[in-house]
Amino acid sequence: MSGKGEQVIKTVYLDNAATSFPKPESVYAAIDHFNRNVGGNPGRGSHQATRSAGSVVLEAREALAGLFNVADSSRIAFTMNITEAINMALKGILLPGDHVITSSMEHNAVARPLHVLSSLGVEWTQVACSADGSLDPADIARAIKANTRMICILHASNLTGTIMPIREVGRIARENGIIFMVDSAQTAGVLTLDTEEQNIDILTFTGHKALLGPQGTGGLYLRPGLVIKPLKEGGTGSLSESLVHPDYMPDRLESGTLNTPGIAGLAAGVSFIRDTGLERIRQHELKLAQSLLAGLREIKGVKIYGPEDPMKRVAVIAFNIEDRDCGDISMNLDLRYGIIARSGMHCAPLAHQTIGSFELGACRLSPGFFNTMEDIEYTVKAIHQLSRE
Ligand code: ALA
Repeated sequence: MSGKGEQVIKTVYLDNAATSFPKPESVYAAIDHFNRNVGGNPGRGSHQATRSAGSVVLEAREALAGLFNVADSSRIAFTMNITEAINMALKGILLPGDHVITSSMEHNAVARPLHVLSSLGVEWTQVACSADGSLDPADIARAIKANTRMICILHASNLTGTIMPIREVGRIARENGIIFMVDSAQTAGVLTLDTEEQNIDILTFTGHKALLGPQGTGGLYLRPGLVIKPLKEGGTGSLSESLVHPDYMPDRLESGTLNTPGIAGLAAGVSFIRDTGLERIRQHELKLAQSLLAGLREIKGVKIYGPEDPMKRVAVIAFNIEDRDCGDISMNLDLRYGIIARSGMHCAPLAHQTIGSFELGACRLSPGFFNTMEDIEYTVKAIHQLSRE
């Protein structure tokens, strides 16, 4: 059954960079189980329903701590999405006079809050990436100044899939005593994220992409000792007698009722990843991306953006056909072939400027773990046909 006005997707879904679909069966089951059988608002009171809900949230926190190599899971706070987590971290740390460094490939989730902070006296340097979206860590090092407080980069571009050298940048940040923040929207659940080895001080994540959970979930990890000013204060179920908001994690950053059913689904998504193996997921997506890249390269008039070497990207491939309207290509893929692809700016105008596609936009294909080689072959054939019209 579908709701009014919505369409059930039966065909080839290639927009996993926007949100993964489908989810593992265990994710649907966990959400349903919570809603039907658990209920309860975590941390509110002491009855069995709140305790059960609290266990669900704790289990999710611990699962994420395991995935990201975080020793103390209470340093992970849940938010409604990664944009909220990024806003919390940037606005909760940066003060007028502070300097922040990013790459030139950042998503609007980082760029728009920094645009606002810039108008309030925060200094922002965007380190230029090359035309395939790659970042040279030495350029980050060269951009450091006496007032640099934070380096914030995405782990992989949502436009070109380009993987950023976060290990090297993390080392540079640590050597210079600078806070290192990572936007893992396109990588959590598919590439290794290790807060210790990669020197990540703040790791922001979304639950509904490669972590395979539902929309409305996300969060951030904050290294012990780092304190950020919350974006909001409110009910936490703790220290309720006081008008002063708790200053300890995770309560400090978790005001109001959480999306507990969503978090139950997210925990199931992370369990699925753990049971399947990150490396197996990565290898499958890499195989799909390699095949898609090889197929598209054979089509006359197709321009592919991003690194040529598939190992240097996640399974996100943006392309254009000559200077044709990318919205039209995407609409034809959808209506005539049932292929779901996102066209336009991808909420990443800085990245489009960097790779030279700002005027045209691009059409983006992003396979996920549940896509097959048949999906890719079918898509390449469809684009080939469209290219000849
Ligand atoms: N940031 C998501 C995308 O790239 C929504 O589509």
